[in-house]
Amino acid sequence: MSSFTEQLTADRNNILLTREQIQEKVKKIAAQISNDYQGKIPVLICVLNGSFLFFTDLVRQLSIDCEVDFVKISSYGDALKSSGKIDVLKHVDCPLEGRDVIIVEDIIDTGLSVHFLRRWLKELNPASLRFVSLLIKEGTAVVDYECEYSGFKIGKEFVIGYGLDYRQLLRNLPEIYIMPEMLLQAMDKK
Ligand code: IMP
Ligand code: MG
Repeated sequence: MSSFTEQLTADRNNILLTREQIQEKVKKIAAQISNDYQGKIPVLICVLNGSFLFFTDLVRQLSIDCEVDFVKISSYGDALKSSGKIDVLKHVDCPLEGRDVIIVEDIIDTGLSVHFLRRWLKELNPASLRFVSLLIKEGTAVVDYECEYSGFKIGKEFVIGYGLDYRQLLRNLPEIYIMPEMLLQAMDKK
C-alpha cells in the first residue's frame, strides 16, 4: 500500500501552488520585510506547527538581522474546520517588550488565530507588531483581522503540504495541494 504522500503526489492535478511559485513569493515577502525593517532587528515568531517550512524559507531570504522565536497554538485538532477555541501550547521565550515583532503564519482561515495572537502579544508591549501569512482564504473570516504581509489569496478548499497538515500528515511536501476527497476518505479510515 502506498503512503498518503505518494497517493497525493501521484496526481499533479492536485497541486494548487508549485514549489517555484511558493519560493518566488517567499523571496518577494522577504524583500519587502528586509526593506521595511532596515536598521532594525525584528523578532520573527513562527506559529507552530503549520508555519515551520514557510518560516525557515522566509528567514533564509532576509538581508536584515533578525531573531527567531516560536509559539504553538492549537485550534483545529484533527478536524477540517476551526474549533473556534484556541489553546496556547507553547509560549514565546524571548521578552517582546519594546521589540519589533513579526508573527509568521501559514494560512488565515476564520481569522480567529490571528485575532487571538494580536490581542495576546500586544499585552507584552512590543514596539510594533505585524503579521505575515503565506495563504489567505477568501470569504471564510468570522472576525475582522489585519495581516500586513500576505502571499496568496486562495479559495475555501482545504489545502495541505508545505507545512499544512491533515491529521498531522502531509506537512512534508514542498508544494501546496488541494485535498482530494478520495484521500480524505482514505485518511479518515485509518
Ligand atoms: P484560523 O484560526 O481559522 O484562521 O486558522 C488558522 C489555522 O488553521 C492555520 O494556522 C492552520 O494551521 C489551520 N488551517 C486553516 N485552514 C487550513 C487548511 O486548508 N489546511 C490546513 N490547515 C488549515
Ligand atoms: Mg497554523
